[in-house]
Amino acid sequence: MAERARVITYNVASIDGRLTVAPGVNLLAGDERWAAMTVGVGDPYQWPREIHDPGLFLEGSGSFLCPELPPLHGVDPGPPGEGEHFLPHDVVTAPGRRWFAVVDGQGAVDLQFTEWPDPNWVGWHTLVLTSLAAPSEHLAVLRGRRIPYLVVGTAHVALRRCLEVLHELLGVRTIVSTGGGRLGGALLREGLVDEIDVELMPWAIGGRGTPSLFDTQPLAPDQWPTHLRLLDQEALPDGRVRLRYSVADGVPA
Ligand SMILES: NC(=O)c1ccc[n+]([C@@H]2O[C@H](COP(=O)([O-])OP(=O)(O)OC[C@H]3O[C@@H](n4cnc5c(N)ncnc54)[C@H](OP(=O)(O)O)[C@@H]3O)[C@@H](O)[C@H]2O)c1
Repeated sequence: MAERARVITYNVASIDGRLTVAPGVNLLAGDERWAAMTVGVGDPYQWPREIHDPGLFLEGSGSFLCPELPPLHGVDPGPPGEGEHFLPHDVVTAPGRRWFAVVDGQGAVDLQFTEWPDPNWVGWHTLVLTSLAAPSEHLAVLRGRRIPYLVVGTAHVALRRCLEVLHELLGVRTIVSTGGGRLGGALLREGLVDEIDVELMPWAIGGRGTPSLFDTQPLAPDQWPTHLRLLDQEALPDGRVRLRYSVADGVPA
């Protein structure tokens, strides 16, 4: 079996595991309730960056698809072939290169930047992980913007293969996924999560359908919940708690 990058999920969540305040509330667009709840959190990327030293941060397309941002679809001259990645040599080989990657299997996210204008993100470059479902025109726009992409999978990104390709082509060893619940859920169900880290806030949100940690299909009768082992627990100011769990092998005896 090919080697793959190791995956840690990291999220800031309410005590009941909610990742935003209600269905359809995208935090990138801003929400005053979430802003008040997370006032002590600061930069949510700082802790995982220091602890895990990842080569890549992973986000899901759900964080970028606000209703006010229309998807970037136009005339489609046909799909690219699997494996027709766009990896400009100078971008990939820059010393100390790290990646801020978005899983965007449909080619719907209108990314407008290659590097964030922030001193904390020097050397981090955007990368799109997509599939054959992405319109060719969208990929042409990415090439025009010098945003590298990998095409892995048919209708969605084939996540396991993608982690192998990231390891093989870009040398990525450690990934911190800060994506939403559907990306986390897909990774979990495919057995691709190695560690689960969460910063819990002293708030209960509730609400059926509110995006939560690991939003995915229910377990089948023969499937087991993912068994975890506590690695670390840290009490933080204002009643917040940070937990680190590794994924244990198999089911408990
Ligand atoms: N509190 C936090 O830490 C935090 C973090 C991130 C986001 N959020 C919030 O969470 C919400 C977004 O979360 P979300 O759950 O709706 O979306 P999401 O997890 O950001 O996006 C879903 C992603 O999972 C991919 N996916 C789903 N099933 C898959 C499968 N079987 N194989 C491959 N890829 C698969 C989708 O691919 P396709 O592109 O192909 O559909 C998409 O990229 C927003 O409100 C955001 O503000 C909160």
